[in-house]
Amino acid sequence: MAARTESVNPKKWLNAFLGVVGVTAVLTAILRLQSRRQSLPCPAWLTVLLENPYMNSVAGADKILDRMALEPGMKVLDVGCGPGRLTIPAARRVGPTGTVTALDIQPEMLHRLQDRIVTQGLTNIQTIQAGAGEGKMPVNTFDRAMLVTVLGEIPDRQKALTEIFAALKPNGVLSITEALPDPHYQSPTQLQKLTQAAGFKEQSCTGSWVAFTMNFVKPGGQAS
Ligand SMILES: C[S@@+](CC[C@H](N)C(=O)[O-])C[C@H]1O[C@@H](n2cnc3c(N)ncnc32)[C@H](O)[C@@H]1O
Repeated sequence: MAARTESVNPKKWLNAFLGVVGVTAVLTAILRLQSRRQSLPCPAWLTVLLENPYMNSVAGADKILDRMALEPGMKVLDVGCGPGRLTIPAARRVGPTGTVTALDIQPEMLHRLQDRIVTQGLTNIQTIQAGAGEGKMPVNTFDRAMLVTVLGEIPDRQKALTEIFAALKPNGVLSITEALPDPHYQSPTQLQKLTQAAGFKEQSCTGSWVAFTMNFVKPGGQAS
């Protein structure tokens, strides 16, 4: 029997594409409204929204780590690490003389990260299960801290930023990345207000309104 070939129907594909875009837009709008009433952590089953070609192009790990000038030997704090999209590349970049401390409020996220740590044989990552602002971060320890699409999920942002400030060494840098269509997206103006109140000084802003990274320094030491 001859094989039947099906012709590609462009209209069908266009409708499917528009359907996916529409569903994403509606879901984002619902989550955005919900997040204004209550800050909720991104559920583990939604990590597909973090690890995909779109996020890699606008807020990929290498780009974010370059922007914070992460170097071998540094100590890094990854706040709201999720399943480790940034944690694993950061651990590779700081190498055996550096460390990454990965903190997340959800055990499920840390289980996923732990699987990756074991599979990839990394020995320079430690995890902390806690909410940012709960006082579980070591003080005066880190050269870099990062918050990548996390801040808007934290109920008490000011408390969390004050704790991160204390966790950094003098001249340490906090790097915050925000990307649309994250329903918890924070604008540069919101970030400026919150970080300033915690004691940080703005250092740089890179990217566009779609996805940007702002770096903030903890003043107090000799310039390096
Ligand atoms: C959108 S995900 C981002 C994960 C990762 N930073 C990335 O870019 O792939 C947000 C993460 O922040 C965590 N999170 C939310 N609220 C938190 C809090 N109060 N303290 C610590 N982590 C929190 C969530 O559990 C989730 O893993």
